[in-house]
Amino acid sequence: MKKLENKTVFITGGLSGIGKAAAIEAAKEGANIVIADRERGDNIKAMDEIKVIQPKALFIQCNVSIPEEVKNSVDETVKTFGSLDVALNNAGIGGKAERISDIEDRDWLSVINIDLNGVFYCMRQELIQMLKQKSGVIVNISSISGKIGYAKSAHYTAAKHGILGLTKTAALEYATDGIRVNVICPGFIETPLLTKLDLNNNPERKKAIVDKHPINRLGTSEEIAKGFIFLACDDSSYVTGTALDIDGGYLAQ
Ligand SMILES: NC(=O)c1ccc[n+]([C@@H]2O[C@H](COP(=O)([O-])OP(=O)(O)OC[C@H]3O[C@@H](n4cnc5c(N)ncnc54)[C@H](O)[C@@H]3O)[C@@H](O)[C@H]2O)c1
Repeated sequence: MKKLENKTVFITGGLSGIGKAAAIEAAKEGANIVIADRERGDNIKAMDEIKVIQPKALFIQCNVSIPEEVKNSVDETVKTFGSLDVALNNAGIGGKAERISDIEDRDWLSVINIDLNGVFYCMRQELIQMLKQKSGVIVNISSISGKIGYAKSAHYTAAKHGILGLTKTAALEYATDGIRVNVICPGFIETPLLTKLDLNNNPERKKAIVDKHPINRLGTSEEIAKGFIFLACDDSSYVTGTALDIDGGYLAQ
């Protein structure tokens, strides 16, 4: 028996990295897939990969920092598949590496608008639908930076801490409505987001980052996707308000 058979899974930022791996795992588990991503172009080939596994897959162009686009995406999901059973609020960006005294308003806001406000806009719209159904699961993607400070990353760190607060609050507010809300805190994962750090051309920098993970390597998107499937399906039916660290031991130190 597949774990998400006939469920509709909505994934933001699902054309790349962690979101794409989560979409592929959910498709393997029998779910209808909706990808909401602001990109198009070449990235759309991710949809072809998903459709090979699950033909019932829909792409919606959506910028999560624009509430109207988020509302339209959730509406289109329900119109197409009849329900919204699982949401993975994953879309996010890294932001410029600077100390707080150097961060300009526009750089602060660009990260907060996507990484924190975007998660709020998505959760609000998903919860409106899930309340009608009296069922649903929300999984948010935070980071190790949701639990500890990270120098030169105040916007990202503040946003990721905020996601933990949103998750715990929503878990309390909707626990008796058949809706569970949890969050995953990944360590450093090899994705295009990390490629921007150009670690393969900076072996010393890469080693410094790897050394912070007791397992002594970076994580893979598939390892985060496996955690997502656990939180999305009934295997975690008594789990809500929890932060699942998938970080090679980073936060245990
Ligand atoms: N890679 C890591 O090391 C790592 C670690 C911890 C947490 N995370 C988090 O995991 C999530 C996914 O990151 P990733 O590494 O897979 O990155 P990625 O860059 O590979 O993928 C991010 C996806 O989000 C989309 N996106 C960006 N802004 C968007 C917006 N405004 N609206 C809709 N879609 C948007 C992009 O188009 C892309 O498809 C992010 O929230 C990130 O903060 C990543």
